[in-house]
Amino acid sequence: MPADAPTMDTLVSLCKRRGFIFPSSEIYGGLASAWDYGPMGVELKKRIQEFWWRQMTQLNSNIVGLDAAIMMHPRVWEASGHVENFTDPLIDCRKCKQRFRTDQVPEDKLAAHICPECGGQLTEARKFNLMFTTHMGPVEEEGGLIYLRPETAQGIYVNYKNVLQTGRVKVPFGIAQVGKAFRNEITTKNFIFRTCEFEQMEMQFFIHPSEDAKWFEHWKEKRLQFYLDLGVRASKLRFHQHGPDELAHYAKLAFDIQYEFPFGWKELEGIHNRTDYDLKRHIEFSGKDLSYLDEVTHERYVPYIIETSAGLTRTVLVVLADAYDEEEVEGEKRVVLRFHPRIAPITVGIFPLMKKDGLAEMAHGLDDELCEEFRTFYDESGAIGRRYRRQDEVGTPYCVTLDYQTKEDQTVTIRSRDSMQQTRVKIAEIAPTIRAAIKEYKRVGA
Ligand code: GAP
Repeated sequence: MPADAPTMDTLVSLCKRRGFIFPSSEIYGGLASAWDYGPMGVELKKRIQEFWWRQMTQLNSNIVGLDAAIMMHPRVWEASGHVENFTDPLIDCRKCKQRFRTDQVPEDKLAAHICPECGGQLTEARKFNLMFTTHMGPVEEEGGLIYLRPETAQGIYVNYKNVLQTGRVKVPFGIAQVGKAFRNEITTKNFIFRTCEFEQMEMQFFIHPSEDAKWFEHWKEKRLQFYLDLGVRASKLRFHQHGPDELAHYAKLAFDIQYEFPFGWKELEGIHNRTDYDLKRHIEFSGKDLSYLDEVTHERYVPYIIETSAGLTRTVLVVLADAYDEEEVEGEKRVVLRFHPRIAPITVGIFPLMKKDGLAEMAHGLDDELCEEFRTFYDESGAIGRRYRRQDEVGTPYCVTLDYQTKEDQTVTIRSRDSMQQTRVKIAEIAPTIRAAIKEYKRVGA
């Protein structure tokens, strides 16, 4: 484990205690690998998603959005190659009946067919498809078998022609989508890192085949910058190129962006050159013409696709692990989540020093104003130091306190989460001061 990383137990317990992430269906004993996002977690996840959406669509005039259905025609998954190829090699222990992915079993045990947990005999490896199936229609036997999508990408490919005809776009252009994906994963440890239900933020960029190297490089660099702009420390991010044995069935070239999690370097996002594999397969399986006509050169071709595929829920884990910090302040441990202010679940805490003497009313009034622009949280209970610490633990970058001086000269203090310094400003200056601080924010210790 890296020296400066929190343990997973520390993170899991903070997330529960402070309302970020709860075990799913907890009152029934939980469901392995399923997690619910509480009041803080849902805000954090939404902020990350909104930031991605803004970076992808608003700041790139040649990228448009899409929200395709999770359930698709089953032929989609035959065309995509998932029915045939989206498998993990799994082995079972004959004695304890536990199931493992082959890469989870130490090589010597694998060679000797011995189970790592109980010493029992292992079966031969068998291919296990990761797609969840269900039936559509009122009667199971009569209803058609359908799949829950294992990636959002296919919803984009099957709509590529619709977008082309209605979106006023020309190659090179991209389609961005955020949504749930489902995989029947065997490994269910490491909190929200690998779950059966998760969210992806994917963008498919359609290009002329001769420009694949250029666009691949472009998106590789852009996507790394995204995590830096999210406030993730550069020292914890790196690229990993897929070797021939790691490449997915659709990819010609693939790089992962990896993050150094408390349990090691692992994939956070994949950037793939999917070539014309997907569109050609959909042409073949659907019988529809998905080629592109360049109106200037009159060349007709099937575009190549450069894909950027990020895990939203996995990014939540990255942001939490990366933001976690502990320090000693006046003999006490201070736990602080150093989120970038643009994605912190709460941006401004608002505290009247006392409830009485009209301070609470003034603070409520201020809250009503500031909540138009920032996510605020009003708190009037407990000593002011305690209130600051509670906000530190959920990563609130700024806290505004109203005291007796406020009544006299219309000033408040703004306390910074990172420096713990307080500055006094006029009420009218709060919003501009916070706006400027968000813009100039630099991560402590980055
Ligand atoms: N469309 C390409 C694709 O899905 P992938 O590498 O299989 O590529 C992309 O997945 C990203 O989705 C991963 O980098 C990861 O962040 C996220 N992801 C994949 N499987 C996941 C799982 N079981 N739980 C959480 N996130 C997952």
